[in-house]
Amino acid sequence: MNFLVTGGAGFIGSAVCRHLCANPAYRVTNLDKLTYAGNLASLRQIENAHNYRFAQADICDEKSVLDIMHRDDIDIVMNLAAESHVDRSIDGPGAFIETNIVGTYRILNAALEYWRGLADDRKGRFRFHHVSTDEVFGDLPFEGGMFVEETPYAPSSPYSASKAASDHLVRAWHETYGLPVVLSNCSNNYGPYHFPEKLIPLVILNALDEKPLPVYGAGANVRDWLFVEDHARALELVATKGTPGESYNVGGNSERTNLGVVETICDLLDSRRPRAGGKSYRDLISFVTDRPGHDRRYAIDASKIGRDLGWAPNENFDSGLARTVDWYLDNKWWWGPIREQNYAGERLGEARKGAA
Ligand code: NAD
Ligand code: DAU
Repeated sequence: MNFLVTGGAGFIGSAVCRHLCANPAYRVTNLDKLTYAGNLASLRQIENAHNYRFAQADICDEKSVLDIMHRDDIDIVMNLAAESHVDRSIDGPGAFIETNIVGTYRILNAALEYWRGLADDRKGRFRFHHVSTDEVFGDLPFEGGMFVEETPYAPSSPYSASKAASDHLVRAWHETYGLPVVLSNCSNNYGPYHFPEKLIPLVILNALDEKPLPVYGAGANVRDWLFVEDHARALELVATKGTPGESYNVGGNSERTNLGVVETICDLLDSRRPRAGGKSYRDLISFVTDRPGHDRRYAIDASKIGRDLGWAPNENFDSGLARTVDWYLDNKWWWGPIREQNYAGERLGEARKGAA
């Protein structure tokens, strides 16, 4: 089985490549543009594996994508390439429109042309798996409610609107042209190799640097957290066993307030790497201006993927967060160069409504 993973140098894509390459029956091509978020160091573990290869390309470049599909006899495309950070989408939506919408359109065209040329047996096996987010469903009240696959789309940010648009394109290519697609919509991931613009790695690294730990608003917003390796297993199942035309919600059943997440990280660090002077890292918590359009709460009902594909997370939030903190303590070789040369932790996405 030959996989084309786009965005495989990113946080989730690299976990997917590492996971798939552990199966000797799979061959994996990682297609990535290597934006600021792409990092080949995340693939060090598999870079010399017999069943892994890397191709630097842009999903907007239809011809290059099609050539790679032919060259590597692709059976399954897993499309993870995207601009992924909500705060950056507030500062500069253009790249999100380009990659997440136009790029998805281009790779759908390439996949359709490729699929039409396959022999019947391979045509029946081919899948285009589009990896999406729970953010397309929008804002849930604090009091209750969960996203199911049928929840209407109501995105709030330029990021989530661009992902929603891409999901619609993928479904349209299935309904109109018959391309065998599957979709998945997942909650917040965390774990090793997470770019330190996102809440969890940002807080770990700022704490180690004795810098303020920025909590937006009152820290009351709720996210549902999933360990990235559990997501990678879910994605393999959706891509290989999912029913064409269907979507699957994926979540960790681990809702936490942002303040609760930050406090737990502080407590883990207090026991593992105590501060000089004996104070708690909690003293570094700093409440800052809220994110514009900040969705209050996300919560995923993942019963369909459990029932239909037999998936369940292995990691709970406490064990997964402890593993994550330990990984950052042990792997400065990975994050040190990013903090020094690429992104040092400055505030992003502060633009107010009406200022765009
Ligand atoms: P990421 O930002 O860490 O990685 C994105 C990768 O895509 C990078 O390697 C980047 O170089 C590459 N890329 C960007 N534009 C490209 C282009 N035009 N052509 C080829 N490659 C390009 O993102 P992530 O957090 O790993 O997310 C991966 C996917 O999963 C995204 O589609 C995202 O919307 C979705 N998702 C993320 C989460 C999460 O919590 N991180 C949750 C649910 C869904
Ligand atoms: O829900 C899935 C989504 O999760 C994915 O689609 C996105 O690609 C991924 O980036 C993530 O989006 P969030 O916006 O939820 O993640 P982020 O880590 O940016 O923020 C998590 C929460 O923490 C959110 O409520 C905003 C808040 N926050 C974030 C940062 C960076 C803070 O309070 N302080 C911060 O400094």
